[in-house]
Amino acid sequence: MGLTSCKKKIIGPGSSNVDLTGFAPRLPIAGETVMGSELHIGPGGKGANQMTAAARLNGDVYFITRIGKDTFGAVLEQHFEAEGFQQSYISHDENTSTGCALIEIEETTAQNRIVVIPAANLCISPTDVLAAESDFMDAGAVLTQLEIPIETVMEAKDLAARYGKPFILNPAPFRPLSPVQLAGIDWLTPNETEASSLTGVEVHSVDTARSAARILLDFGVRNVVITLGVAGAYWTNGLQEAVVPGIPMKAVETTGAGDTFNGALAVAVAEDMPPEVALRFANCAAAISVTRLGAAASAPTREEVEVLMKTIP
Ligand code: RIB
Repeated sequence: MGLTSCKKKIIGPGSSNVDLTGFAPRLPIAGETVMGSELHIGPGGKGANQMTAAARLNGDVYFITRIGKDTFGAVLEQHFEAEGFQQSYISHDENTSTGCALIEIEETTAQNRIVVIPAANLCISPTDVLAAESDFMDAGAVLTQLEIPIETVMEAKDLAARYGKPFILNPAPFRPLSPVQLAGIDWLTPNETEASSLTGVEVHSVDTARSAARILLDFGVRNVVITLGVAGAYWTNGLQEAVVPGIPMKAVETTGAGDTFNGALAVAVAEDMPPEVALRFANCAAAISVTRLGAAASAPTREEVEVLMKTIP
C-alpha cells in the first residue's frame, strides 16, 4: 500500500469556494448576535477540498472548476498551484464572482454551520467536462459532488462509464437523485444524513447503514460507503461488507473532514486498494484532518496517513 511512484490521475468537476470561518464560544440562535474570537480565510468548497486531499495523498489532480476574476479567485488560484493541481481545466469566469462559504464554528464542540454562495460554481457546465474528455481516458478515478449543476455531475458519470473508469459521487450537499441518476454509480459516499434522505431509512448505526445501503444497491449503485461520524464508516458491494471504527481525535475543526475522506477514497480506488484497506486509508485521512484548522488546508500528507494506519489495528 506504500507510496507508488506512478501517481494515479484523479479527475472531476467540483466546487471551489473561499471559506470565511468565524469561531465563537457557541453558535447564535436566529436573530441573536454572539461575540466571536477569530476569523480564518482560506480555500474551501467540497470539490477543492476533495481534490486537495487527493493531491496531498499522491494523486495527480485534474480539477474541473470555475473561479471569478476577483480577490477570492486569486486566493484559490494560488492554492491550486501550490498543491500541484494540473491547471488545464481551471476556468476564470468573466461575469461571475468566486464561490464563498460563511462558516460558524462552536469552539467547545467543533460543530459547524455553513451557508454557501455558489456563484461561479453554478457555471461549471457539461461542456467544461467534455473539454476534459481526453484526460478521462487514462484516469484512475473520477470524483465529484453535488455543489455544482447536476447535469455537469451526470456528464462526468457518462464519461467515466464510456472509458470504464470508477465514478465516485459524494452526494453532498444533499439533493434528491433519481433512479436513473443513481444507476451505475461505482462508489456512492453519503454521510448518515444524506443516506437517510436518499433512502428514507434513518441511518444512525451500522445496522441501519446496511439497510440504507441495500436500497442504494437495488438502484444500481455498485459500492456504497456510508460515513458514520465518530462511529467510523461502512462499505458494501452487496456481496461483502466492511466496517471501520471511528478514530478518537481531539477535533478543532471538522469542516472538510468528509471531503478529505472522499479525496482519500478516490486515491485508494485509483490505486486498487482492497475496499477494506481503502476505507481505513480514507478514515485515517479524515481523522487527521479534524485536528487542524481549515477545510482544504487540513488535509494530511500520504506519510501522515500511513503512520496513523500503522498505529490503528
Ligand atoms: O464540506 C465543507 C465545505 O462545504 C466548505 O469548505 C465550504 O466551502 C462548503 O462548500
